[in-house]
Amino acid sequence: MALNILLVGCGKMGNALLGGWLDRGVASSQIRVVEPQQQFGQEFIDAGIAYHNTVADVEDGFAPNIIMFAVKPQSMDDVAPEYKSFVGQAVFLSIAAGKTVDYFTNKLGSDAAIVRTMPNTPAAVRSGVTVAFANSLVAEEDKRACTALLQAVGDVHWVDDEALLDPVTAVSGSGPAYVFLLVECLAKAGVEAGLPEELSAALARATITGSGDLLTQSPETATTLRENVSSPGGTTVAALDVLMGDQGMASLMVEAVAAATRRSKELAG
Ligand SMILES: NC(=O)c1ccc[n+]([C@@H]2O[C@H](COP(=O)([O-])OP(=O)(O)OC[C@H]3O[C@@H](n4cnc5c(N)ncnc54)[C@H](OP(=O)(O)O)[C@@H]3O)[C@@H](O)[C@H]2O)c1
Repeated sequence: MALNILLVGCGKMGNALLGGWLDRGVASSQIRVVEPQQQFGQEFIDAGIAYHNTVADVEDGFAPNIIMFAVKPQSMDDVAPEYKSFVGQAVFLSIAAGKTVDYFTNKLGSDAAIVRTMPNTPAAVRSGVTVAFANSLVAEEDKRACTALLQAVGDVHWVDDEALLDPVTAVSGSGPAYVFLLVECLAKAGVEAGLPEELSAALARATITGSGDLLTQSPETATTLRENVSSPGGTTVAALDVLMGDQGMASLMVEAVAAATRRSKELAG
């Protein structure tokens, strides 16, 4: 990747992204980090990454093509305007939840090329999925560069309609919490059925992570994988009859995703 990246904010997500870029062969000379915290990771210092407490400290000769905002949404009011001088020279790529393209246009001006994304928490272990939307000022070549940067922490999909980021937030953004809840519910149900608490928690956790691995490695759809363990008249079908009934998981999930979508719209204003 022959591009210069200015990473703004190196917390959990910034760390994951930076580690991913280095693993993928991005040279440390192509990266600058702005991060006010003193505890910048030793592995990044050892890798020769230059980091600065403020953007004013970045040397004038460093010309970023991509400025990635990886600060908390509540910090963005203060952070984004500090980068206005890069408009026209760099694409602004935000991973901040709920911050719209209009929001960044207000902060940076109508000439700003902006990519708004919605990653999810498994990005922290590079198994995330990110959905991205670009305004009309982002060139195809820059979109490809953004894709490459985001792929360092998982899969990447693009949408042409920013409004889709509300249901995206409801499905993949909030989705990891639904899976964690499933682990909790399965563990509790095991205890109700007579299992010792510790064993039930271990079984529930290993079942969800193992099923995730199977999904990752198998070419089959989730439906086929489910059908493969559903022998007619067997135990799995007995449980699925309950879960897939009228008031079951499918209708609850529709309701849950609709609620999260509504909330995402409200928060984006
Ligand atoms: N974690 C996830 O899996 C996840 C998933 C989806 C979306 N996101 C989005 O990713 C963004 C980052 O999340 P995170 O979990 O990585 O947050 P985080 O761990 O709090 O990292 C943000 C970092 O930015 C630093 N910062 C604050 N002000 C700054 C400034 N003026 N210039 C440069 N850096 C500054 C913070 O330093 P201080 O601590 O000193 O303030 C902190 O180290 C958020 O907007 C979030 O919505 C995260």
